[in-house]
Amino acid sequence: MNPLSEKKFVFYSWNDKEYWKAVELRRLVLRFPIGKNYGENDFIIEKNELFFGCFSSSEDCLATISAKELNSTTWKMRQFAVHPLFQKTGIGGMMVHFYEQEARMRGIENIEFHARKKAVPFYQKLGYSVVSDEFLEVEIPHFKMEKKL
Ligand SMILES: CC(C)(COP(=O)(O)OP(=O)(O)OC[C@H]1O[C@@H](n2cnc3c(N)ncnc32)[C@H](O)[C@@H]1OP(=O)(O)O)[C@@H](O)C(=O)NCCC(=O)NCCS
Repeated sequence: MNPLSEKKFVFYSWNDKEYWKAVELRRLVLRFPIGKNYGENDFIIEKNELFFGCFSSSEDCLATISAKELNSTTWKMRQFAVHPLFQKTGIGGMMVHFYEQEARMRGIENIEFHARKKAVPFYQKLGYSVVSDEFLEVEIPHFKMEKKL
């Protein structure tokens, strides 16, 4: 069966089973390709974040994003990863819409984050703007991006 045909967009909580499935996807997409892994502290510091996922009907994690509340009107988007087998199939764009819809419902007016240079054109298509010079994070080039909802 095509895992995309019955995918669902869900919220999940820190430390539940969906969280750890999403962590495995994050390792695969965001850490292993740059020769890094997570440490225990990386999980502890995100205890209070909100988590968004796309899961297949067989409960595989296809995509994940986290939201860190910086203040009552601003979220920082973090840890956005789409499964390599399903990148460029539209899931990333759907995840951003799901995320923005929830942000608006909660009174969030601004979304900001540090985007990997390679992903900047993806975010620009979704209305996000580059607002910084290039800088290094996890030793790879990034730009700060933001959008007013
Ligand atoms: C970047 C990422 C989140 C985008 O998700 P995705 O599911 O692949 O993107 P979509 O299929 O929804 O693409 C939406 C549009 O953006 C375009 N796009 C996607 N990734 C792109 C990229 N890296 N560069 C240029 N355009 C891109 C698509 O072609 C599509 O364009 P269209 O609407 O004209 O057809 C995903 O590819 C990913 O996980 N990449 C590796 C990890 C990463 O870079 N995460 C972000 C860290 S800041």
